Amino acid sequence: MLNIVTLGDPILKKHSTLVTSINEDVERFLNEMFDTMYMGKGIGLAAVQVGKLDRIFVTHVPRDMPRVFINPEIVETSLDEEIYEEGCLSIPGINADVIRPYAIKVQAWNERGKPFTMDAEGLLARVIQHELDHLNGILFIDKLDDKKRNRLLKNYERKAKAG
Ligand code: NI
Repeated sequence: MLNIVTLGDPILKKHSTLVTSINEDVERFLNEMFDTMYMGKGIGLAAVQVGKLDRIFVTHVPRDMPRVFINPEIVETSLDEEIYEEGCLSIPGINADVIRPYAIKVQAWNERGKPFTMDAEGLLARVIQHELDHLNGILFIDKLDDKKRNRLLKNYERKAKAG
Protein backbone atom coordinates (compact mmCIF):
# COMPACT_ATOMS: atom_id res chain seq x y z
CA MET A 1 0.00 0.00 0.00
CA LEU A 2 1.16 3.51 -0.80
CA ASN A 3 0.90 6.47 1.56
CA ILE A 4 -1.58 9.12 0.52
CA VAL A 5 -0.21 12.65 0.69
CA THR A 6 -2.60 15.08 2.37
CA LEU A 7 -3.31 18.80 2.21
CA GLY A 8 -0.40 20.92 3.39
CA ASP A 9 2.24 18.83 1.64
CA PRO A 10 3.74 21.14 -1.02
CA ILE A 11 4.01 18.29 -3.55
CA LEU A 12 0.25 18.59 -4.16
CA LYS A 13 0.87 22.01 -5.76
CA LYS A 14 3.48 20.74 -8.20
CA HIS A 15 3.08 19.98 -11.89
CA SER A 16 3.60 16.34 -12.76
CA THR A 17 5.79 15.46 -15.72
CA LEU A 18 5.14 13.39 -18.83
CA VAL A 19 5.74 9.66 -18.71
CA THR A 20 8.15 8.64 -21.48
CA SER A 21 7.79 4.86 -21.47
CA ILE A 22 5.88 2.03 -19.84
CA ASN A 23 7.98 -0.54 -18.03
CA GLU A 24 7.59 -3.03 -15.19
CA ASP A 25 8.03 -0.27 -12.62
CA VAL A 26 5.06 1.60 -14.08
CA GLU A 27 2.96 -1.59 -14.17
CA ARG A 28 3.75 -2.33 -10.52
CA PHE A 29 3.03 1.28 -9.60
CA LEU A 30 -0.38 1.14 -11.33
CA ASN A 31 -1.34 -1.95 -9.32
CA GLU A 32 -0.29 -0.21 -6.13
CA MET A 33 -2.32 2.84 -7.09
CA PHE A 34 -5.46 0.76 -7.59
CA ASP A 35 -4.92 -1.03 -4.25
CA THR A 36 -4.43 2.30 -2.50
CA MET A 37 -7.48 3.86 -4.16
CA TYR A 38 -9.71 0.90 -3.22
CA MET A 39 -8.37 0.88 0.34
CA GLY A 40 -9.27 4.57 0.64
CA LYS A 41 -12.68 3.92 -0.97
CA GLY A 42 -11.85 6.48 -3.63
CA ILE A 43 -13.05 6.53 -7.24
CA GLY A 44 -9.95 8.23 -8.62
CA LEU A 45 -6.31 8.65 -7.60
CA ALA A 46 -3.49 10.65 -9.16
CA ALA A 47 0.18 9.65 -8.87
CA VAL A 48 1.08 12.91 -7.12
CA GLN A 49 -1.28 11.90 -4.29
CA VAL A 50 1.09 9.05 -3.48
CA GLY A 51 4.13 11.28 -3.90
CA LYS A 52 5.08 10.51 -7.49
CA LEU A 53 5.17 13.38 -9.99
CA ASP A 54 4.24 11.35 -13.07
CA ARG A 55 1.29 12.28 -15.28
CA ILE A 56 -0.73 9.22 -14.31
CA PHE A 57 -4.11 8.70 -12.69
CA VAL A 58 -6.50 5.81 -12.24
CA THR A 59 -10.27 5.77 -11.91
CA HIS A 60 -12.95 3.29 -10.96
CA VAL A 61 -16.30 4.99 -10.97
CA PRO A 62 -19.39 2.97 -9.92
CA ARG A 63 -20.85 1.01 -12.86
CA ASP A 64 -17.69 1.70 -14.90
CA MET A 65 -14.54 -0.37 -15.27
CA PRO A 66 -11.12 0.41 -13.78
CA ARG A 67 -9.30 2.84 -16.06
CA VAL A 68 -5.72 4.03 -16.43
CA PHE A 69 -4.82 7.45 -17.86
CA ILE A 70 -1.18 8.19 -18.64
CA ASN A 71 -0.19 11.59 -20.07
CA PRO A 72 -3.89 12.57 -20.28
CA GLU A 73 -5.14 15.65 -22.07
CA ILE A 74 -8.68 16.99 -22.24
CA VAL A 75 -9.21 17.98 -25.87
CA GLU A 76 -12.89 19.03 -25.73
CA THR A 77 -15.30 20.14 -23.04
CA SER A 78 -19.06 20.61 -23.23
CA LEU A 79 -20.63 24.02 -22.75
CA ASP A 80 -23.06 22.32 -20.38
CA GLU A 81 -21.87 22.47 -16.82
CA GLU A 82 -22.95 20.58 -13.76
CA ILE A 83 -22.67 21.13 -10.01
CA TYR A 84 -21.71 18.06 -8.01
CA GLU A 85 -20.25 17.40 -4.59
CA GLU A 86 -16.59 16.41 -4.69
CA GLY A 87 -14.19 15.02 -2.17
CA CYS A 88 -10.54 14.02 -2.36
CA LEU A 89 -8.47 11.33 -0.66
CA SER A 90 -5.86 14.03 0.01
CA ILE A 91 -8.39 16.20 1.91
CA PRO A 92 -10.24 13.59 3.97
CA GLY A 93 -13.58 14.58 5.47
CA ILE A 94 -14.09 17.65 3.28
CA ASN A 95 -16.69 17.85 0.50
CA ALA A 96 -17.94 20.74 -1.57
CA ASP A 97 -20.00 21.46 -4.66
CA VAL A 98 -17.82 22.14 -7.70
CA ILE A 99 -18.98 23.34 -11.13
CA ARG A 100 -17.40 21.58 -14.10
CA PRO A 101 -18.25 20.82 -17.72
CA TYR A 102 -20.69 17.90 -17.91
CA ALA A 103 -18.92 16.06 -20.74
CA ILE A 104 -15.37 15.88 -22.06
CA LYS A 105 -13.22 14.23 -24.68
CA VAL A 106 -9.91 12.97 -23.30
CA GLN A 107 -6.78 11.57 -24.92
CA ALA A 108 -4.27 9.48 -22.97
CA TRP A 109 -2.21 6.30 -23.00
CA ASN A 110 -3.55 3.15 -21.43
CA GLU A 111 -1.56 0.82 -19.14
CA ARG A 112 0.27 -0.64 -22.14
CA GLY A 113 1.26 2.77 -23.47
CA LYS A 114 -1.32 2.61 -26.26
CA PRO A 115 -2.89 5.99 -27.08
CA PHE A 116 -6.67 6.24 -26.91
CA THR A 117 -9.37 8.88 -27.15
CA MET A 118 -12.62 8.64 -25.25
CA ASP A 119 -15.75 10.59 -24.51
CA ALA A 120 -16.95 10.75 -20.93
CA GLU A 121 -19.88 12.39 -19.22
CA GLY A 122 -21.36 12.74 -15.77
CA LEU A 123 -19.41 11.30 -12.86
CA LEU A 124 -16.63 9.78 -14.97
CA ALA A 125 -16.04 13.10 -16.75
CA ARG A 126 -15.95 14.81 -13.37
CA VAL A 127 -13.44 12.38 -11.88
CA ILE A 128 -11.20 12.67 -14.95
CA GLN A 129 -11.22 16.47 -14.64
CA HIS A 130 -10.56 16.31 -10.89
CA GLU A 131 -7.63 13.90 -11.34
CA LEU A 132 -6.19 15.81 -14.28
CA ASP A 133 -6.24 18.95 -12.11
CA HIS A 134 -4.07 17.08 -9.59
CA LEU A 135 -1.43 16.59 -12.31
CA ASN A 136 -1.33 20.39 -12.65
CA GLY A 137 -1.12 21.05 -8.93
CA ILE A 138 -4.78 22.01 -8.57
CA LEU A 139 -7.11 20.74 -5.83
CA PHE A 140 -10.90 20.89 -5.94
CA ILE A 141 -10.91 23.43 -3.12
CA ASP A 142 -8.91 25.76 -5.40
CA LYS A 143 -12.02 25.98 -7.62
CA LEU A 144 -14.15 27.44 -4.82
CA ASP A 145 -14.48 31.11 -3.92
CA ASP A 146 -12.19 32.32 -1.13
CA LYS A 147 -14.92 32.55 1.49
CA LYS A 148 -16.11 28.99 0.94
CA ARG A 149 -12.56 27.63 0.78
CA ASN A 150 -11.50 29.36 4.01
CA ARG A 151 -14.54 28.00 5.81
CA LEU A 152 -13.78 24.45 4.63
CA LEU A 153 -10.10 24.76 5.55
CA LYS A 154 -11.01 25.89 9.06
CA ASN A 155 -13.23 22.82 9.44
CA TYR A 156 -10.47 20.63 8.09
CA GLU A 157 -7.89 22.00 10.53
CA ARG A 158 -10.30 21.62 13.42
CA LYS A 159 -10.92 17.99 12.48
CA ALA A 160 -7.22 17.35 11.98
CA LYS A 161 -6.45 18.74 15.46
CA ALA A 162 -9.20 16.63 17.02
CA GLY A 163 -7.57 13.62 15.33
NI1 NI B 1 -8.40 14.42 -5.42
